[in-house]
Amino acid sequence: MRRALDLAYRGWGHVHPNPLVGAVVLSGDLTVGEGFHAEFGGPHAEAVALAAAGARAEGSTLVVNLEPCAHVGKQPSCAELIIARGVRRVVIAMPDPGPVSAGGAERLIAAGVDVEIGPFREQAERQNAVFLHQAKVARRPFIAVKLATSLDHRIADSAGHSRWISGEPARDYVHWLRAGYDAIAVGGRTAVVDHPSLTVRGAIEPRVPPGRIVFLGGRRLPLDAPLVRTAHEIPTFVVVDGLFQSESAALVEHGIEVIPAGGLEDAMEQLWARGIQSILVEGGGRLSGSLLGRGLVDRFVWIVSPVWLGESGVPAIRGLDVPSLLQAERWSTVDRKALGQDTVLVFDRG
Ligand SMILES: NC(=O)c1ccc[n+]([C@@H]2O[C@H](COP(=O)([O-])OP(=O)(O)OC[C@H]3O[C@@H](n4cnc5c(N)ncnc54)[C@H](OP(=O)(O)O)[C@@H]3O)[C@@H](O)[C@H]2O)c1
Repeated sequence: MRRALDLAYRGWGHVHPNPLVGAVVLSGDLTVGEGFHAEFGGPHAEAVALAAAGARAEGSTLVVNLEPCAHVGKQPSCAELIIARGVRRVVIAMPDPGPVSAGGAERLIAAGVDVEIGPFREQAERQNAVFLHQAKVARRPFIAVKLATSLDHRIADSAGHSRWISGEPARDYVHWLRAGYDAIAVGGRTAVVDHPSLTVRGAIEPRVPPGRIVFLGGRRLPLDAPLVRTAHEIPTFVVVDGLFQSESAALVEHGIEVIPAGGLEDAMEQLWARGIQSILVEGGGRLSGSLLGRGLVDRFVWIVSPVWLGESGVPAIRGLDVPSLLQAERWSTVDRKALGQDTVLVFDRG
């Protein structure tokens, strides 16, 4: 199953809103076929793995991170294919929550296939967290916050400079991360101070480049900012406080969609209504603190670099009010890895 989960990640940036799926076909202890869902609308992982296995699929065990689909969509039903190819046993990490696609395990059992559901379920659910969030019919996007901080939890020095706290491997990782989200967001001050372009640059080329969102509040976004200059090519949204709409016309002329919102929840609902199902928020500290305080963060990706920025640096999280340890929310650590000199920690709410 570990191998199936690794294979599934190869579809990152290419399959959403579909799930990440990887599959392995085993004949005894021998791997005779492997596959992953590589492109939205393309062949499913099970079909690729079974094709690779050829005649050796007969009597084999298929290991897959998500319950095989039972419906005919852009691709034929995987459950029927598995039955037709004579697979004896199917091991599944997590059930399919989709109202249309679910039911594969039931179909397999009915056809006499031995089915086991559950191994590595938690890892599989973490991997497909965005897909599962959508299936819950949430009214807001899945929200991940990513911050690169010093050892003393600062995201910029006293002058507001944050380039670069983390090293190159961590920055490459961020480009990979971006590719899996529908949009990348920043707070108003970050948009003005950092002049970010929030695009995916690096080895991975997403099927659909993520859009960009600025939570501008009552600030002015200079018209020569990279985000504004490229708004005709990349969908760009600017969320403004309902009271500060005077600058909107110029932004709209540059191709930006201005969203007047009465708070973060309202903004998220409006973005969801525009088809944005997942957002990677890349700071700054105020926006991240506001989102956390309102219970709007599902995942926190924290890159820690071995540097000290001191008391006068910009704090990573601002405005989060926690009355006591007893009332503090405790999250789950779902991943830890070293990237050069930096450490990436991933935490999920709940
Ligand atoms: N190391 C990193 O990962 C990283 C990432 C990003 C940024 N940075 C650094 O962080 C600094 C900026 O961070 P920051 O904390 O000062 O500012 P920020 O979070 O980027 O922006 C805060 C501003 O956004 C506007 N805003 C709109 N809606 C908001 C909401 N719901 N909650 C909070 N703010 C909202 C507000 O503008 P109004 O007050 O006008 O309403 C607020 O002042 C920069 O120096 C940047 O270089 C570092």
